[in-house]
Amino acid sequence: MRVISSSSIVQAESMLEANNLSVIRSGKIVLEDVNFQIKEGEFVGIVGPNGGGKSTLLLTILGILSPAKGDVKVFGHNPQFVNFNGKVGWVSQDAASIPTKMRMTVRELISLGTISSKNLFSFRRGKESSAVEDAIKLVGLEDLAEADIGRLSGGQRQRAVIGRALASNAELLIFDEPLVNVDRSARNGILKLLDDLCHNENKTLLMVSHDLTAIRQSAHRIVYLDGQVQFDGQPSDIPNLSGLAGLIGLEHVHSHAHKEED
Ligand SMILES: Nc1ncnc2c1ncn2[C@@H]1O[C@H](COP(=O)(O)OP(=O)(O)OP(=O)(O)O)[C@@H](O)[C@H]1O
Ligand SMILES: [Mg+2]
Repeated sequence: MRVISSSSIVQAESMLEANNLSVIRSGKIVLEDVNFQIKEGEFVGIVGPNGGGKSTLLLTILGILSPAKGDVKVFGHNPQFVNFNGKVGWVSQDAASIPTKMRMTVRELISLGTISSKNLFSFRRGKESSAVEDAIKLVGLEDLAEADIGRLSGGQRQRAVIGRALASNAELLIFDEPLVNVDRSARNGILKLLDDLCHNENKTLLMVSHDLTAIRQSAHRIVYLDGQVQFDGQPSDIPNLSGLAGLIGLEHVHSHAHKEED
């Protein structure tokens, strides 16, 4: 497997693209003819009903699932055949639900993020530990660095798992539902953190969320995915919920988003 270099990242026209992408799972077409691009420094939100293929798309972007047709390119490369050397950070659905029995400090958890970028053949310990310290600062957990993760609130745990993704110096950050199990005030803090990562740290963000209000507030672009891309545009241009429901059956998203806000 080829390890990509920084120069091949810079040369890529888009950070991420899906071209005529179709994915089949257990004989069922889950994604069909999906096309979209993400440029460096963009913050793109993906919404859609349960089962609409959002997680499937992310798994394909990460090179875990194979396209049945078309392709996905990350930094201009096929993710199935390239080791991104930590340049892609992934925060999975429910990543913050770490078993509280697991005894680990925030710093230790965030350090786990350096594994993917560790190079056995070069002595980079100093570099790795400064990446960990930088990640702790970026997610605002300096005061809790030595705290046991079992003691953290949902929002703080979510910051810690985002820190783990940042510790590998990831340039493209992919989030699957980062706001679930995070209360309303902490949610705004997480959104502010994502916004800062995009605007101050020049990270490229792709976030799946059922929380349309949150996505509208923070993302530069919204993609509505229901097997196919039903909408791709500015948050201000997304049809209102009743319009969308009439168009493509948004019931699930609406009720789910509502539930999370309760
Ligand atoms: N491991 C699997 N094997 C077969 N089919 C699967 C598998 N995982 C998901 N699917 C199917 O693929 C479709 C898309 O699922 P996916 O998890 O991508 O949707 P999603 O948009 O992420 O949904 P949610 O909003 O509930 O997270 C669903 O019909 C689901 O049943
Ligand atoms: Mg999902």
